[in-house]
Amino acid sequence: MEKIIIGNFKMNTKPSEFKSYAMTLATKTKGTKNDVIVCVPYTHLETAKEILTESVVEFGAQNISEEIKGAFTGEISAEMIKDLGATYTIIGHSERRAKFRETDRLVNKKIKTALANGLKVVICVGETLQTRQNKQASAFVKKQLDDVLKGIYENELDSVVIAYEPIWAVGTGKVATPKDIQKMVELIRKEIENLYSEKAGKNINVVYGGSINLSNYKKIISIDQINGALIGGACLDVDGFSAICRENY
Ligand code: PGA
Repeated sequence: MEKIIIGNFKMNTKPSEFKSYAMTLATKTKGTKNDVIVCVPYTHLETAKEILTESVVEFGAQNISEEIKGAFTGEISAEMIKDLGATYTIIGHSERRAKFRETDRLVNKKIKTALANGLKVVICVGETLQTRQNKQASAFVKKQLDDVLKGIYENELDSVVIAYEPIWAVGTGKVATPKDIQKMVELIRKEIENLYSEKAGKNINVVYGGSINLSNYKKIISIDQINGALIGGACLDVDGFSAICRENY
């Protein structure tokens, strides 16, 4: 089955290093049926446009401003990244929520701005370890979905990927069990069904992220009802990432 494989560079690699990465990725993913996306630092977008445009690889940013344009020193708009060929942006990554105090309300605003500008969005949701230990993970993720999707229309969901990323699994080497991942994916579909329709719940793209690597990706990406993966650390190794992108799932 075709899957969506998303790489999240975070604040890693220099623009000058990205050129050879992009060239290798473009070559090694040729012919894959999977959707391959790399979300890179803004400084890499121009190179991404130059090298990846003719390839199967789509690219995007890891964040955008919720504002359209104007006096917002240091911010980058949806329109700016689109102009550089980006088709995606991640929104609401747990690192932005934790380190840059992004709330569900702000995430919701950013999603609306991205969609209004014709970008596709990877929306991150996921619970802390404490929330999971308190058996509140399901309720927490449900509420996150309700809040970040407020005012988003069903016909916009084609441009939405929900990434379930338990915070305790991001960058820690700890992976949620396939059973817990599957349960959460089912819950996400159910909540989309409640918010929109049965069809929407069935069709929404849901991926898992959190410490996916070369030794565990097959087991995770093959979980029933999962559409793919959001990969941080392991995407920096272009050979390994290309192998994950080329796999026949
Ligand atoms: P990780 O990061 O694969 O390094 O855990 C995932 C993410 O942050 O999207």
